[in-house]
Amino acid sequence: MTEHLMLLAPSGNRVYAADAPRLAAAELRALTVGFGLAEPDVLTTCIAGVDYLSLRTGDELTSWEVRVLSQLSAAYALYRREGDLLAPVALQHPDRYPSDLVTIQKYQGKTNEQWTRLLLNVTAAATATPDRLLDGTLRVLDPMCGRGTTLNIALSLGLDVTGVDLDSKDFQAYSAFIKTWMRQHRLKHSADESSLRTDGRGRGRQLRIEVAASKDDHKAGRTQRVIYLSTDTTDLDGLIRPRSVDVIVTDTPYGVQHGSHGDRLARSPLDLLDRALPEWVRTLRTGGAVGLSYNRHVAPRDELAALLVTHGLTLVDGDPDAFRHRVDASIDRDLLVARKGR
Ligand SMILES: C[S@@+](CC[C@H](N)C(=O)[O-])C[C@H]1O[C@@H](n2cnc3c(N)ncnc32)[C@H](O)[C@@H]1O
Repeated sequence: MTEHLMLLAPSGNRVYAADAPRLAAAELRALTVGFGLAEPDVLTTCIAGVDYLSLRTGDELTSWEVRVLSQLSAAYALYRREGDLLAPVALQHPDRYPSDLVTIQKYQGKTNEQWTRLLLNVTAAATATPDRLLDGTLRVLDPMCGRGTTLNIALSLGLDVTGVDLDSKDFQAYSAFIKTWMRQHRLKHSADESSLRTDGRGRGRQLRIEVAASKDDHKAGRTQRVIYLSTDTTDLDGLIRPRSVDVIVTDTPYGVQHGSHGDRLARSPLDLLDRALPEWVRTLRTGGAVGLSYNRHVAPRDELAALLVTHGLTLVDGDPDAFRHRVDASIDRDLLVARKGR
């Protein structure tokens, strides 16, 4: 028997930090199932006052297993336990860009970065092609992307991503942020902002970015695309190609007002999702998956699960409380993942 200890990244958010070890263990289980790895015995443990995830396996970890473990949203460092001593095992962190891409923006209503990354990992693991998460070919859509936490995380992981949001202030804030950030980091890029029209009909605005992580990547044509459509997610007809997306991940409205959204944004998330899901499912490839972060206080789990099934999706099994955690008195946060096709 081999035991590895994973040190978890300190979370900037005190509330999330309290649940981080339990959430990391649940994320690890989802990744091992999705990637077809031998499931280790996982428990949270504390050594000399520091929290670790303990992973016990029958055999030594293979380099592929270490690669998958490196993907965990909270992975910080990994050690093999040798008696009382810890031998470091190098993680293969997937991040392509400096971490301030995801941490620098601070605003009310921002989705926790670690949680967003976890949601993307767990949803990708549930697709028919989880390897795409690791080889950079997974196509991601966040159909209610706000100021772009998912966009920035997908970008750091080397993925192409599309975001949609109706709130034009979020669009403008993201556009200003990402352009400045790419300039400050001297990344080779293009960023084009224009009005969004189909068949002469005004649909909002769009931002199209192409960026390379290094000069060598740029020379070799290894570029990534970020598209942000500032439009209504319940009407995506003609804007996103059918069956072009592998994962849809989004943090749904919490039924808590952040700032001054109009009536259109303040409705029940279930009502909004009921109208949006036909559009989203159309963009999804067969074998692709939808991962929703939601507030159980305004969207009971059973009702949300039933809604996903009504829209032709298959729920991914698992402990229904594995990812549930309290954010504050008004937000009891959870996630649900469902697949297109069996
Ligand atoms: C919880 S927030 C997402 C926050 C985002 N993950 C972030 O970190 O910035 C939910 C988002 O749903 C968007 N939204 C609500 N109704 C929408 C609609 N009909 N079309 C597009 N976006 C919508 C809101 O504008 C809001 O930005």
